[in-house]
Amino acid sequence: MKISPEPFDVLIIGAGAAGLTTALRLPAELRVAVVAKGPLDLGCTLWAQGGIAAVLDATDSLDAHVQDTLEAGAGLCHEAAVRQVVEHGRAAVEWLDAQGVAFSTDSQGAFDLGREGGHGNRRIAHADDATGRAIEHALVARVRERANIVLFEHHVAIDLIIRHDATQRRCVGAYFLDRRQDRVVPLAARATVLATGGASKVYLYSSNPDITTGDGIAMAWRAGCRVANLEFNQFHPTCLFHPKAKSLLISEAVRGEGGRLLLPSGEPFMQRFDPRGELAPRDIVARAIDHEMKRLGSEHVLLDISHKPEAFVRERFPNLYRRCLAYGFDMTRDPLPVVPAAHYTCGGVVTDLDGRTDLAGLYAVGEVAFTGLHGANRLASNSLLECLVFGQKAAEHIASTLHAYPVLPDLPPWDESRVTDSDEAVVVTHNWDELRRTMWDYVGIVRTDKRLLRARQRIELLRREVEDYYAHFRVTNDLIELRNLALVAELIVHCALRRKESRGLHYSLDYPVTATEISVHDTLLTPRDPPQ
Ligand code: FAD
Ligand code: SIN
Repeated sequence: MKISPEPFDVLIIGAGAAGLTTALRLPAELRVAVVAKGPLDLGCTLWAQGGIAAVLDATDSLDAHVQDTLEAGAGLCHEAAVRQVVEHGRAAVEWLDAQGVAFSTDSQGAFDLGREGGHGNRRIAHADDATGRAIEHALVARVRERANIVLFEHHVAIDLIIRHDATQRRCVGAYFLDRRQDRVVPLAARATVLATGGASKVYLYSSNPDITTGDGIAMAWRAGCRVANLEFNQFHPTCLFHPKAKSLLISEAVRGEGGRLLLPSGEPFMQRFDPRGELAPRDIVARAIDHEMKRLGSEHVLLDISHKPEAFVRERFPNLYRRCLAYGFDMTRDPLPVVPAAHYTCGGVVTDLDGRTDLAGLYAVGEVAFTGLHGANRLASNSLLECLVFGQKAAEHIASTLHAYPVLPDLPPWDESRVTDSDEAVVVTHNWDELRRTMWDYVGIVRTDKRLLRARQRIELLRREVEDYYAHFRVTNDLIELRNLALVAELIVHCALRRKESRGLHYSLDYPVTATEISVHDTLLTPRDPPQ
């Protein structure tokens, strides 16, 4: 794809549920660029399994979905964000249906609704056990049909471009590494939307695909935006434990349909931790598994759904059945060995209810954003819904305000005058591994101040080394990602050190008690007041 020199009305960085929804919700008169760092469909959206939460059943209610979200969020959800998302749930699912997403239906033709942890009702619309694939492929097909949307694949955003006028700083586009041409190009736009997903690849073990390196969070921070609540990394309780199974998530829907967690001896254990057992919110289940694995010195626990009829399991989980079988596990007969892995970034770039960040002309939508929806722990299947609802809100806000945006200046070309080709790329691979292992060992499911301080020391060193490398050598995809990961890791540790309590996904042995209501607060970091 040749890069057009003309500025766009809207530049959307990211082609998952958030980016594609924003693009499709914008008026067709606007000239829109959608950019992805690999092929269009390579984000987390493609891999989502369980489905999308929404109130779609007569026995359910908006208030019940709101209450379940607030409860999972452990006192930190912003109720206005929760209500906005929940109230748009049905419309969002119906819009997806209209875009061609083939949701599973019951014998009456109504949405078949699954159940997941923390939800008091069946409210998960799904497409078998591969909902994300159905959503991503349908939305990609729709954007390909739109003449006003220009798609840039294999373009990695490096940094946002900021211009100052008399009254304010404004985002006017971004620089991208065009991986196929191996050159850096600017893309100018009147409004820019970050839809770059989360940062779970900062951990050694993760359910996420490789692209989730926190690029949007890092770019927004460098551009002067606040970030919040990065200490709340969600660990999914059940990823397949197998040396060759990279990132194979076993959906929470398996527990929703009766799957039981067992110790390696076959003994059930979840009731000892929570009366809701296997369907307690994720933070509780992941911590219980971590506790039992450490207590027994075991490498995994077991997830067993083999007591259910074989035909039901194969029909409800056709993809999981097939993928587990490829690793030698027949889930209709055998319990599956499972472990927790980093899954979701609850914090992110601070936005308002329209997806606006602190920087004029810059929006953030989807997992990259901190909207206040998830609080200290995201409720299962609320993430895709957030992408859909905030994508629509941001698009509406951009459409109604774009006329007031100033004319764009010419953007300067990327300056490579002071860099050369790298002569020791080993620095990148070594620091990449060390960073992710440090985060896994010291900033994981159970934390202490001592471990966090140890992590901070090491990560600061790594980050400075990476910045130095970045200043001297030509950018590559790996270098861009490592630079961002190192910064986001540092921000996560700073947030975790600031929270002197245990709440939701942040559990500290030094402060095991949840603070009383009066001290409930978000952890806000601002670049003007960088953490020490
Ligand atoms: P993504 O879908 O991750 O897309 C990010 C996009 O940004 C990609 O196109 C990528 O190429 C692009 N990008 C990133 N950095 C750059 C850069 N520097 N330059 C250019 N482009 C860039 N949530 C649910 O609600 N229900 C579920 O059932 C569910 N199941 C899940 C199962 C798995 C295995 C995983 C990993 C997650 C699951 N989640 C689920 C979470 C959910 O899938 C994600 O939170 C959601 O899809 C995020 O969408 P997004 O559009 O924000 O980002
Ligand atoms: C799953 O299917 O277990 C993932 C659901 C989610 O992350 O919301």
